[in-house]
Amino acid sequence: MKIYVVYDSEGEHTKYLAEAIAEGASENADAEVLIDHVDQADIRKLKDMDAIIWGCPGHFGTISSGLKAWIDRLGYLWAEGELIDKVGAVFCTTATTHGGLEMTMHNLITPMFHQGMIVVGLPGNVPENALYGSYYGAGVTCPVDSDVLMTEEGLQLGRALGRRVSQVTGNLTAGRQ
Ligand SMILES: Cc1cc2nc3c(=O)[nH]c(=O)nc-3n(C[C@H](O)[C@H](O)[C@H](O)COP(=O)(O)O)c2cc1C
Repeated sequence: MKIYVVYDSEGEHTKYLAEAIAEGASENADAEVLIDHVDQADIRKLKDMDAIIWGCPGHFGTISSGLKAWIDRLGYLWAEGELIDKVGAVFCTTATTHGGLEMTMHNLITPMFHQGMIVVGLPGNVPENALYGSYYGAGVTCPVDSDVLMTEEGLQLGRALGRRVSQVTGNLTAGRQ
């Protein structure tokens, strides 16, 4: 199975989260995981993917313009139904606790539904998420005055999302064979 992680990031907080997600997904020996900053992300690769995970910093409660512009280039894939039934998941960082994490993740999920993707969140019975409560994907608050770009808890949450996506995608692709 092939999984593509696409992220936007200016200050590397979201980059660290994206890398943790890719790491978690790679724990599945059957997974080939690709990861790209949105500026390098190749839309032509999407057709060959079984799962796509995209994320960004929250900008005023919504998707960063860099990632949104990239998502808006996926119209021809929508027209051809190319992303239907691919697994999707999202992630986000913000500087403050109530700074729009959930709003941004909802906004990231919406185009996945329009594309006909099967969206995977992070349930409460995932140990890393039991207290975090990040159900819509991996959403992590990264205070700007912190010495670390991403906490160990945030990395664990990211790995958990990657793990879940590869598990669900593996089950789906096995069922289709
Ligand atoms: C234009 C812009 C708008 C932002 N809006 C918010 C916001 O509404 N709430 C918030 O908590 N952080 C906001 N931030 C901060 C970023 O979401 C936060 O620092 C994020 O972790 C940066 O990720 P990065 O280092 O991967 O770029 C904003 C940053 C920018 C540049």
